[in-house]
Amino acid sequence: MAIKFGRPLERSRLDPAPAGIKTERLDLRVRPRRNRRSEWSRRMIRENVLTADDLIWPFFLVDGMNVRAPIDSMPDVERLSVDQAVHAAERAATLAIPCVALFPYTDSARRDEDGSEALNPDNLVCRAIRAIKKEVPEIGVLCDVALDPYTSHGHDGLLRDGVIVNDETVAVLVRQALVEAEAGCDIIAPSDMMDGRVGAIRGGLDAAGFTDVAIMAYAAKFASAFYEPFRDAIGSNTALVGDKRTYQMDPANTDEALREVELDIAEGADMVMVKPGLPYLDVLQRVKDAFGMPTFAYQVSGEYAMIMAAAGHGWLDGDKAMMESLIAFKRAGADGVLTYFAAKVAEKLKKAAA
Ligand code: PBG
Repeated sequence: MAIKFGRPLERSRLDPAPAGIKTERLDLRVRPRRNRRSEWSRRMIRENVLTADDLIWPFFLVDGMNVRAPIDSMPDVERLSVDQAVHAAERAATLAIPCVALFPYTDSARRDEDGSEALNPDNLVCRAIRAIKKEVPEIGVLCDVALDPYTSHGHDGLLRDGVIVNDETVAVLVRQALVEAEAGCDIIAPSDMMDGRVGAIRGGLDAAGFTDVAIMAYAAKFASAFYEPFRDAIGSNTALVGDKRTYQMDPANTDEALREVELDIAEGADMVMVKPGLPYLDVLQRVKDAFGMPTFAYQVSGEYAMIMAAAGHGWLDGDKAMMESLIAFKRAGADGVLTYFAAKVAEKLKKAAA
């Protein structure tokens, strides 16, 4: 297609020049702005759409009854006791959010060196899974597999002489996955970044008869500064000894992310995830393009906190920033997003449709 670029034609009648400035109408055949003139037209040509179906809503759990405890670094997000988590799940279902993700704040008395509370079939997460599956059976429940909510040192795996040991950790993660599956979890989401854990968990689930329990692999998970508020929320921050760079990925790498994702798919992942979200849209796009898998992004706690903090100061419009950040995930190829904004967004979408 030959595009005819502007040749000065005549003084525009529509666009009269301010006094003293001579303007000419350009002889343009192609004017991309034509499609943007009105809302109906913008809607008609829109390439990507965000719906409630795209949302997974993570929430935090805490012991007790009728508890909704605020989290300083995550405005409007609370730790919920199991009864309140059931209400939240009901709200999610009403808003047509397909799935919730559960993260426990474990009482420090129940954390130990090996994260043994992870294997307690009556731990907070398991109690919440059972309650939600009983009261709100139509909603999907996703749970992390990783030891960090349960270890006294805050790491996702077993620490031996200052090293996070891989194979021994994987054996525990398989048992953790089985405990969660037994409680009724629909999607097991290994977030630990140990080598070989997806295959081992798939094998463990299948051997125990949980062939229909799905795996969403935190396939490309980076050692990120943006997880800090989450670690406050689950209480692992003060505990964390060192950092997670021997198992989470170097933020400088994308080819390696593709290799990680490829391995998780080969090991049996049903869905893959890239995490964090917005700073890693390039990784997300490459992963979706390369594998065509159901691909999710995690808009993590720090991303949420940044938008909320700026909005709280009146430095940006929080609602607009929220919507723009979420459509960016869709544009990059995400099939869905784990986001702390999920309920707020779904409510907004519902109002707009009404
Ligand atoms: C645990 C886990 C983390 C997040 C999800 N699962 C923290 C971490 O790896 O340190 C982060 C989520 C968020 O920041 O919102 N392995």
